[in-house]
Amino acid sequence: MTDVADVAIVGGGVIGLSCAFELARRGKSVSVIERERPGFGASTVAAGMLTPSFEVELTPPALVELQLDSLRRYPQFVAEIESAGGLSCGYREEGTLWVSRHRDDELELEHLRKIQEDRGLPARRLTGREVRQIEPYVSPRAVGGLLVESDHQVNSRTLMVALQAACEAVGVAIRVGAGVTTVERTQGRVELAIEEESGVSTLCADQVLLAAGVWLEDGLVTPLPTIGMRPIKGQIVHLKGQRLADHVLRNSDIYIVPRSGGELLLGATEEEQGFDLRPTAGGTLDLLRYAFEILPGIYDLYVSEIDVGLRPAVTDHQPVLGPANVEGIYIAGGHYRGGVILAPSTAYWMAELMTTGRAPEQIASFGIERLLAERLQEAAG
Ligand code: GLY
Repeated sequence: MTDVADVAIVGGGVIGLSCAFELARRGKSVSVIERERPGFGASTVAAGMLTPSFEVELTPPALVELQLDSLRRYPQFVAEIESAGGLSCGYREEGTLWVSRHRDDELELEHLRKIQEDRGLPARRLTGREVRQIEPYVSPRAVGGLLVESDHQVNSRTLMVALQAACEAVGVAIRVGAGVTTVERTQGRVELAIEEESGVSTLCADQVLLAAGVWLEDGLVTPLPTIGMRPIKGQIVHLKGQRLADHVLRNSDIYIVPRSGGELLLGATEEEQGFDLRPTAGGTLDLLRYAFEILPGIYDLYVSEIDVGLRPAVTDHQPVLGPANVEGIYIAGGHYRGGVILAPSTAYWMAELMTTGRAPEQIASFGIERLLAERLQEAAG
């Protein structure tokens, strides 16, 4: 069987579906091919923090700009998804509160505040007492804080369900349990071989967007050179019980994300463990210990889940966005810790590129060329 579409998207994570929604809204016929189920890789494990200001120190300026661009787009992105599919995305605007436990944390916080100030990002410094006035369950040992009201959060699981409904409402065909094995350019189009339980089929498209997360170079044959996509394991502990916080709470060791229904997410480990999805005692121990230092009341909550995801990353830990080096093939991947926050801007700018042919300035520094140049240098020794 051969199917056709204007655009085929390999991967039904938050990036694949956001791009599919935007391209379909712009009049393209879009097919998404997902090997498991939407959001299976990293998207539904993500805590959904939309917090560019706290990652600003180690993030290159162009990426901070893209994150801020995406944060500004979030309210409209959510409104469009909710209006098309009729389901809530679970978007909340309570802000983020950094909590310092001791003098070291305080010095780190002061350093962070200065960088934020230099970059024009608003934040309010708080004493320990002020932190507890905002969040009364924070430990009496906390000595200070930093409040960023412009940071927000979205429930990544709710978002994925809403996004799927929105995609279907605008005519996107989503094939689940369908693994793409090869992508090749032939006779002026791009052809995909797809394996499903029902058999093998072909999909022909004018354009293909590779948004397969960590599976970009695992079991998928494309004409692209290797770019070194690898998984970075993240474990997240879910707790349930009495509501202990309204804001996202964090410091350099942990983030604590309150969700509706009394759920609290503690995240996340960062591990080089290949495709291993098993939760570990050590990962859980660290997350509970660091969270307990900020919010001792977690002691009485129930562990409802330990979730594990694989973040897709390349060597410089920045996304890869733009045309691949084969006509008709594009890539949106390597979002590492930022898939959820970067979804609106990735979708918008990739759709601009794929519908107009003009390369947007906003994603110019995230092209595949930087990785190919790196590989050539390595090969030259
Ligand atoms: N976005 C936070 C993380 O990946 O842990």
